[in-house]
Amino acid sequence: MKTLHLSAEVSETAEIAANLIKNGELVAIPTETVYGLGANGLDEAAVAKIFEAKGRPQDNPLILHISCAEEMEKFCKDIPRAAYDLAEKFWPGPLTIVLPARDIVPRRTTGGLSTVAVRCPDNAVTREIIRLAGVPIAAPSANISGKPSTTTAQHVAHDHEGRIAAIVDGGPCRVGVESTIVDLTEDRPRLLRPGGIGPEQLREVLGDLVVDKAVTAQIDKDAVVKAPGMKYRHYAPAEPVVIVSGSRERAAEYIHAHFVPGDRVLCFQEELPLYGDCKPLAYGREADVNTLSAGLFAALRELDDPAIHKVYARCPEGGGVAYAVQNRLKKAAAFHIVDAEAEL
Ligand code: TXA
Ligand code: MG
Repeated sequence: MKTLHLSAEVSETAEIAANLIKNGELVAIPTETVYGLGANGLDEAAVAKIFEAKGRPQDNPLILHISCAEEMEKFCKDIPRAAYDLAEKFWPGPLTIVLPARDIVPRRTTGGLSTVAVRCPDNAVTREIIRLAGVPIAAPSANISGKPSTTTAQHVAHDHEGRIAAIVDGGPCRVGVESTIVDLTEDRPRLLRPGGIGPEQLREVLGDLVVDKAVTAQIDKDAVVKAPGMKYRHYAPAEPVVIVSGSRERAAEYIHAHFVPGDRVLCFQEELPLYGDCKPLAYGREADVNTLSAGLFAALRELDDPAIHKVYARCPEGGGVAYAVQNRLKKAAAFHIVDAEAEL
């Protein structure tokens, strides 16, 4: 198959992409978080192609992308007040809400669950594609399963060139980590995945928020979990990653003491001078956490090289999107963290 490369800046792009979606084809779409691998979310055969292209386990449900908050009612039922409050405050934006699904949503899309995840992305072209297609677009992150997510059209082409109908290039993703997922189907709102919207921001609207244990610890692959995607080892480069916490100086001492040829260091730009001889790769500036979230997956992709022996990674502190960066890095490291302050 020849993959069409469409620019978000060309006015015909939305219509071409929408027609492909209507015809049951796969189209990679830009969003503010990461690129998605999109298909008509109401068409089982189209959705099946997503699972095949990604090599994704069948029990891992997809997010339905909608063009405006009102569309939530077409695909979800028993919608609590809190969902409208969240939509009002954060949509379009990097928040996904899990709600009871209407029968119109195929079980193949929801991975067999009776609930469905919905999100209105903050990307004008993608919302226009959804609107013109007249159907919600089911889209996981466009990476091959188990690989770091795709934050540029080039990442998508690397994983899927020749195997999907089109890639819509909207430039690098602004947020760079996937959306925050909150489940509103139980008595208490539950954070299933941190993302662009921080837990503090959610609590301001919801009052209450339980953090699912899949967010803070490694989950056994046979465990029964709320977000099936959380139990798979995500975002993982080919080699072991170790997070080194502690002050800049202590972390550098620890890493220098343990570094052997073949290792790499993933750090903040401000730290580059400390690691001159350790092949450091900076993923953003510690002083601006948005640069870290935007750069993380591109860096993890660059480090996804079997020739690398081990990666020592530095992780930002704090809440907001830093909390999501911590979560993704900890998952890449399978929660392997050393405290340089205690070790030296
Ligand atoms: O930012 C994002 O959310 C990106 C862009 C493309 O929108 N999409 C994305 O999709 O990250 P994906 O498939 O890579 O991650 C979706 C996560 C998975 O962990 C899945 O298990 C969970 O959402 N999920 C989907 N539907 C669910 C449901 N009904 N209940 C619980 N978790 C659900
Ligand atoms: Mg994903």
